[in-house]
This record gives sequence, C-alpha cells and structure tokens, in this order.
Amino acid sequence: MFERPKAGQKALLVHLDFPGSDFESDRQEFVELARSAGAEILDVIGGSRREADPGLFVGSGKAQEIADAVAASGAELVIFNHALSPSQERNLEKIAKARVVDRSGLILDIFATRARSHEGKLQVELAQLQHVATRLIRGWTHLERQRGGGIGLRGPGETQLEMDRRLIRGRIATLKRHLETVRSRRAQNRASRVRNNVPTASIVGYTNAGKSTLFNAVTGDDTFASNQLFATLDTTVRRLPLQAGDPVLLADTVGFIRDLPHDLVAAFRATLEEARDAELLLHVVDAADPERMTRIQQVEDVLHEIGADDVPTLQVFNKIDLREDEAPRIERDEHGVPFRVYVSARERLGLDLLKDAIAERVLPQVDEQALVLPPSAARLRAQLFTHHAVRGEDIDTEGNFHLRVAMPYERLRGLCVAAGIEPPPSPHLVEEWELSP
Ligand code: GTP
Repeated sequence: MFERPKAGQKALLVHLDFPGSDFESDRQEFVELARSAGAEILDVIGGSRREADPGLFVGSGKAQEIADAVAASGAELVIFNHALSPSQERNLEKIAKARVVDRSGLILDIFATRARSHEGKLQVELAQLQHVATRLIRGWTHLERQRGGGIGLRGPGETQLEMDRRLIRGRIATLKRHLETVRSRRAQNRASRVRNNVPTASIVGYTNAGKSTLFNAVTGDDTFASNQLFATLDTTVRRLPLQAGDPVLLADTVGFIRDLPHDLVAAFRATLEEARDAELLLHVVDAADPERMTRIQQVEDVLHEIGADDVPTLQVFNKIDLREDEAPRIERDEHGVPFRVYVSARERLGLDLLKDAIAERVLPQVDEQALVLPPSAARLRAQLFTHHAVRGEDIDTEGNFHLRVAMPYERLRGLCVAAGIEPPPSPHLVEEWELSP
C-alpha cells in the first residue's frame, strides 16, 4: 500500500533549537536518521524558536526561507526533526511546494524498511496507517502535481479521499485482528517459558550501540548487524549457554532513540513487552560515544514509558576496543552485585565475563531465601506460589507468613518492590533464619 522511499531522494532537513534541547547532538542524530531512510541530504536549515507556531510550526520568515531553499536546490522533500500537526504539515507544503515529512513520519519510514518478522511488518503498517489517517482531513490536492513522491506517504487527491478513508479503516481493522492473533501466540510462548522456569534476559539499548553484534557474539550465530540505525526491529530469542549453570534465553529488541514518537511506542508495545517481562535487562551502551550518559538516560526514559523500569538491569559498556583506557572487567555495586561489564562485542573481548555476570544476576545464587510477609501481602504470597518458588511456609501468631523462597534474589526483590513490600536487603540465606516463636 505504501511506497518505499527512493534511494537518493533529495531532501532538505529542518532542525530548530528549542530551549532545553541539546542542539548539536540532536542535529547529528537527525542527519543519521534521514540518511538511514535513504535521503540525499542537500542542506540542514537551522534556527531557534521559543515555542512552535500553531499554524506553521516555524515563523513565516523561516517558512519563506525553506521555500526559497527548496526552489534553489530542487529538493523533493523537506524533513522536520519535530512532530508536526497534520495542518502544520499541509500549510508548510503549500508554502514550500514540496512534500513535508515530520519526525514520526521519518522514523515510521525507516521502521517500514527494517521490519523483518510478520509481526514487525504488521505493527509498522498499522502505525503508518494511523499516522496517515489523521492527515487525511482535506486530502493533498495542493500537492497533486507531485504525486508519487518517495519518503513519507503518497498523497491521494480530493476525489479519492472518501474511498481512501474507507479502505484505510478496513485495513486498520484487519491489521488489528491479525496482530491480536500474533500477540496471543507470543503471549503463549512467553507463558510456556515462565512455566518451564527458563529465565529470560532482554537486550535493550540506544540504536547502533551494538546490540545485534553482541547478541550474535554471545549466542554464536550470525544474523546481520550493520552500521545503520535500526538494522533490526524485531525480537529474536535464542538460548545463551552459561558455564555457571543452566542456559538462559536471550532476546534482542528494537533499538531505542530519543523521543520515540508515542504512536510508535504504542505500536511496538508487544515487542517491547519482551523486555518488560525479562528477569534481567542487558542495557548495551556505546562506550566510545561521548554522549553515552545522555543516551543511557534516554533509554531509561523509554523503559519507564513501557513500564520496564523496575526490571533489574546490567549495563554492558560495548566497543571498548575504541577506547584506550578500558579493559574487559566487571564493575560491582556496594553489595557486590555486578552492575556493569566492559566488553567489545566485535573483537570478542570480555564475553566470558559478561556471561558470568549474567549468571550471577539471573541464576539462583542462594537456593533458598527467607522472607517474612505481613498478612496484608497475600497477593505477593500468591504470586510466589504461582512462580512455584515457595519451598516451605509457617504462619506465626500475628498472621505473618514465614516463607522459604527459591528464586533469584533480583527477581524476588523486583516482586517485593512491585508489591510495595520492603525487599530483603541482600540475599538472605535460609540457614540464618529462625521462625519467631
Ligand atoms: P540497531 O539495530 O540500530 O538498534 O543497532 P544495534 O544496537 O543492534 O547495533 P549493531 O550491532 O548493528 O552495531 C552497530 C555498529 O557498531 C556496527 O557497525 C557494528 O559493527 C559496530 N560494533 C558493534 N560492536 C562493536 C565493538 O565492540 N567495537 C566496534 N568498534 N564496533 C562495534
């Protein structure tokens, strides 16, 4: 239904500085995104604004500057690094006499070329249709001359409008139905993994941090990794053998970026759920990126948005081969728990350390831990039984439950926090515990 961008389509980029934004690094990321979409970048138009203009997003002077630049350079497309409303997009197109695509449209476009699985493709198409549906208000008659134009979406004429609306509504309904089926299958797979008690670790991280390379390096297979943003979009799950014990399952997830548009977060929720349900997140960071600390924050923001912020995390500082001052090693917190590992996925440095750290975080280190729950924590107690984690139980005279629980410490801690119960301060061996009289 949608045209793919033609490689080398001539584009002007517009990136404005707003108070509080990090102009230079945002600009760089934007240029990379546009390049990933196959655009031939003619120029980047800058500027600054205190707030967006409701009608044009930019001021009228800037809009004219853009129009002049389009005329002078022969650009076919203007890409904004900002979210535009449908009417802003239309008004700008009238002035610039070229197609205008906003940040969501651009990212959707890249996603569309990168989705590989059936589910990924369905998700992208649905998100694209929803994005375009809001833009089908008055059609694109003002651009009819330029039909067929590449990055972003092709514009139908006014006469086509009603038919398009009907088609789109129908297609959205079909896609949603298909996705429901795919999702329930995915949920069943997940449930069977939980039943079989196989812990899952999910790889997350900023786009281009090296997630696919790491995934392949540790699971010993080669799916493709390329120096493009979002080379991968879909979750793959593979077994990760660990020397220290039973294997865990490792899932590779979509690359995160700053300001992932909201409709996209929603579209990819199913894929991202993989991360939310994991025992451990491997947060891959490009250790050679001067902006790495900001990137970490941006990924954490997205994790928060999808409700995965209380899943225990192990940071993987990748690409240490590019840094002279770093060697493979594990960094531990004040309780001695590994929280960061320095590796190079491409040069295969530190991968055994990484596996050890994963094992330490995911596999039960303490076979049985003691936990005292107040009577009000009945729900958490029920959850522990659901996890088949309770090995013994006593109830004291005040109605407190004294449990012996076999579960990785991190997992137990996560469940306690989610239930609003004070977690045990550190792995607490059952031998140290005595039932109060
Ligand atoms: P997205 O799919 O965009 O989210 O990317 P990704 O995080 O999966 O990154 P990917 O594995 O595709 O790697 C991105 C680029 O970084 C590729 O060119 C890799 O070869 C390179 N790369 C990955 N690991 C290392 C490393 O340890 N050292 C160096 N120097 N480059 C690496």
